[in-house]
Amino acid sequence: MMRMSGDTFVIEGLSGKKLLSGTIPVYGAKNAVLPIMAAAALLEGETKLANVPGITDVGSMSRLLEDLGAFVTQTGKEMTISAKGVSGTVLNPDIAKLMRASIVLTGPILARMGQVTFPHPGGDVIGERPIDIFVSGFKKLGATYTETAESYTLSAPGGLSGGEFFFRIVSVTATETIMMAAVLAKGPVTLKNCAMEPEVIAVADFLISCGAQIEGAGTPTIRIKPSVLHVPENVCSIIPDRIEATTFLALGALAGEELQITNIEPSHLDAVLDMFSAAGVTFSITKNAITVRAPEKFNPVKLRTHEYPGFPTDGQAPMTILLTQAEGESAIYETIFDGRLRYIDELTGMGANVTVVNPHRANVKGSTPLTGRDIATPDIRAGLAFILAAAIADGKSNIGNAHLIDRGYEKIEERLSAVGLSIKRV
Ligand code: EPU
Repeated sequence: MMRMSGDTFVIEGLSGKKLLSGTIPVYGAKNAVLPIMAAAALLEGETKLANVPGITDVGSMSRLLEDLGAFVTQTGKEMTISAKGVSGTVLNPDIAKLMRASIVLTGPILARMGQVTFPHPGGDVIGERPIDIFVSGFKKLGATYTETAESYTLSAPGGLSGGEFFFRIVSVTATETIMMAAVLAKGPVTLKNCAMEPEVIAVADFLISCGAQIEGAGTPTIRIKPSVLHVPENVCSIIPDRIEATTFLALGALAGEELQITNIEPSHLDAVLDMFSAAGVTFSITKNAITVRAPEKFNPVKLRTHEYPGFPTDGQAPMTILLTQAEGESAIYETIFDGRLRYIDELTGMGANVTVVNPHRANVKGSTPLTGRDIATPDIRAGLAFILAAAIADGKSNIGNAHLIDRGYEKIEERLSAVGLSIKRV
């Protein structure tokens, strides 16, 4: 079991009753705001962002930017980043090691300053998270690379030259990072086998609003022409977090009398809605909201995580909680990370009947009632899955390591209390 530290969420389970009702808003996407904040470091002027979530990873990215010479101010959901004074080339290792997404800053800093030094990025313990693709991409565009025991350094003092790069594995942050660096390259860049996540498109749209010549974001091939950047023409509003939306949908399906999830972009949820439908969940969709009720029973399904537009790995744990309540045997195939089934030990401790076949596959037999338990969450997404499990369980659960949940979910206890869940932070 992981050691608990800091705050704990105390949840009184609903013992299977379907009582949650009301409206739960989705906030801005963590995985869009972090690379867009990094992209702001490419600009000599001010970037204004709206719909910025109040999560601790945003605080870490702000501190990293300030450490490099930027000024960041945040009032509520609005943020201003003044990157004129950026002069540093070394990502502060103490901050960079707090989150994997720190690596996205390497693209803008290398492109703007001609050099960047950074530690191995930290973040969730969800399996091996190497940086080889980033390094090969930068090298292919003309950077040189050296490493010591503590850090990596990339250099391109005269600017990146440009060229063509094929991503051996589809990677979200590598696509974003190399694309950001490419806008200041001297020659054209073609990136192949790119990630197609909505967050990649959001980063490209932001860069385009700053004058970048980028075509094809959201498809496997992105083409970038040498660009002259200016400050963005408009305030950039961060897209809704599709993983929050997925998690709240699972909660509504499990325990909702009628739960309305608002501020969402339904078109980002095709795979998720298809999977929920297969499991027997019904919902009504309007332009920016989905209403969901708990059905009488759930069907078992085969769930395979996949790069976008497939079912997101970040939604796998919440979906598995739902499948513990399905009648029959479901199969989980986690294709992206090799450490993303580790939460299942604790779930079986709550009464779920889940067999982990190997680091990528698990079988879930349902339905099984769950009982409350004390758990230390290992990562952001498993943390929310435990909250869902605790919500439907019989009895009380203490979910420790709340600070990991705070990395990705703003004031989760307030939003869940507002729809009727008994959840307190202690
Ligand atoms: N990979 C390599 N070498 C690399 C980079 C990646 O082998 O140099 C592998 C990874 O080990 C993994 C696969 O490529 O097996 C795909 O991972 P990817 O690089 O796409 O993940 P990421 O960019 O590090 C982002 C999100 C994750 C999300 C994944 C997959 C951000 C900041 N993070 O991570 O979000 O799970 O894409 O969609 O965008 C989270 O929000 O909790 C989270 C972990």
